[in-house]
Amino acid sequence: MSQHYQHDVLVIGSGGAGLSLALNLPAHLRVAVLSKGPLDGGSTPRAQGGVAAVLDDGDNIESHVHDTLVAGAGLCREDAVRFTVEHSRAAIQWLIDQGVPFTPDAEHQDGERGFAFHLTREGGHSHRRIIHAADATGAAIFTTLLDHARRRPNIELLEDRVAVDLITEHKLGGPGRRCLGAYVLNRQSGEVDTYRARFVVLATGGAAKVYLYTSNPDGACGDGIAMAWRAGCRVGNLEFNQFHPTCLYHPQAKNFLITEAVRGEGGLLRLPSGERFMDRFDPRGELAPRDIVARAIDHEMKRLGIDCVYLDISHKPAEFIKAHFPTVYERCLAYGIDITHQPIPVVPAAHYTCGGVLVDSRGQTDVPGLYAIGETSFTGLHGANRLASNSLLECFVYALSAAADIAGQLQEVAMPGQLPTWDASQVTDSDEDVIIAHNWDELRRFMWDYVGIVRTSKRLQRAQHRVRLLLSEIDEFYSNYKVSRDLIELRNLALVADLMIRSAMLRRESRGLHYTLDYPGQLEKPLDTILIPPCYHPA
Ligand code: FAD
Ligand code: SIN
Repeated sequence: MSQHYQHDVLVIGSGGAGLSLALNLPAHLRVAVLSKGPLDGGSTPRAQGGVAAVLDDGDNIESHVHDTLVAGAGLCREDAVRFTVEHSRAAIQWLIDQGVPFTPDAEHQDGERGFAFHLTREGGHSHRRIIHAADATGAAIFTTLLDHARRRPNIELLEDRVAVDLITEHKLGGPGRRCLGAYVLNRQSGEVDTYRARFVVLATGGAAKVYLYTSNPDGACGDGIAMAWRAGCRVGNLEFNQFHPTCLYHPQAKNFLITEAVRGEGGLLRLPSGERFMDRFDPRGELAPRDIVARAIDHEMKRLGIDCVYLDISHKPAEFIKAHFPTVYERCLAYGIDITHQPIPVVPAAHYTCGGVLVDSRGQTDVPGLYAIGETSFTGLHGANRLASNSLLECFVYALSAAADIAGQLQEVAMPGQLPTWDASQVTDSDEDVIIAHNWDELRRFMWDYVGIVRTSKRLQRAQHRVRLLLSEIDEFYSNYKVSRDLIELRNLALVADLMIRSAMLRRESRGLHYTLDYPGQLEKPLDTILIPPCYHPA
């Protein structure tokens, strides 16, 4: 039987953003943190390179702001960039205080540089400013935060709970707009339960699974973006999908990233002939921002008809490689590649969703009581292209500010009244799951082929035609059959794909991650692409 639950704060997502927010709420609040699969199923535990922040005495806020604005290709919101960078040191200090085991700096005495931890370098950064835990930073952060959350009696961590849709006053036919909770599929009982809460937080990660090849885990389906859109939230800049230049190319390797820090520490990109090529595309060579490196690799692969290029760090001492990149070393070795002697075969793959749900500096969306933080949000930090390692930073800075905002509103916001139970009276069990699997495949393939690294207007029109057909088929399926995780994800992915294509069609220029052969130039005055949902209501 379907259940009803109530919490002060419902956090949908157990990644870096969701856990940080939960841990920063006052300890007397009842908090639920949901994860659609296992708690470690998001991108956070897979993050490798680290977190960008101004930490070294030789670095400064202006420089980090400048690098972010340059990578963002004219579309960053400078106030959001400043807000994030100015709060970077405090966010990192909070992580250090939680006990995250960042890699210490072996070369400098404690305090000599004003900071005791090793800082690495990544593309687009003019300073060493990436704090990391070897090449498994996300795992170190996630494990530490999860451990704290498990020890907090006010936080319930709930696995296998897939949020289906948000419940708002508007959807219930009332005059108000507030978010009151969510319907959530319990994958263990098969029932859709009702969660009501004073505040709801979307921390559901990105949508890179919309592409056939991705560095992301299976759950990166844009659920938060789709749920927020259906609830009346505007979304922004969804045409900017970041492709990471270097994912391992191996038949048995699914989704394995080769961290950008390998290039930061001297790794070189080579063609199969051994020739270097990045200098032909950008004076910064291998350390140019990601959009440029990914496009250069794509260009060379298409020009030469090759399956991959090579990332070579074998000129560095073996001990250095093993100490800095133990995860990459071990994983490649398992596939028969010894990176201390051999170059690594790599290809670009979809990595990060720069756009998302429009929020302010407190993480507040257009719908009162609803917050969005982490990769699902659009804060304005990333512009047309995210600077490496600014994503985890954004998760922590906005989680902390959203938590403070919620804490400041506790006196004013009461628990909503009883909410209606999910109505499953009109649906039956599906006997055609093959349709869902087929549509998943089709969607991801045409997004890769038509809405990928290089676009044209015709390819976008083709993609739009196909996604609209899929959407109507999925709608029919959704109305007639019981919901499953696959169906919920497909419905959300198709909606987000449609929003991405619409956004890409609206941008008549090539900027940052959006590159179209039909509009190779840049407009003088760049604008965000903001899409407004049918049930949007200005505050
Ligand atoms: P996630 O960590 O992805 O968590 C999403 C959570 O939402 C999961 O718990 C998931 O189960 C849950 N969820 C989703 N939908 C639902 C639903 N419908 N119902 C219930 N729960 C739901 N960035 C950096 O800054 N530095 C790096 O070094 C770096 N390396 C990366 C390496 C890899 C391989 C990848 C994939 C990304 C990397 N990134 C990096 C990007 C960064 O890791 C992510 O942007 C960030 O971790 C996102 O955190 P998040 O909390 O927003 O979402
Ligand atoms: C990486 O380690 O290359 C990923 C860094 C990022 O996505 O910011």
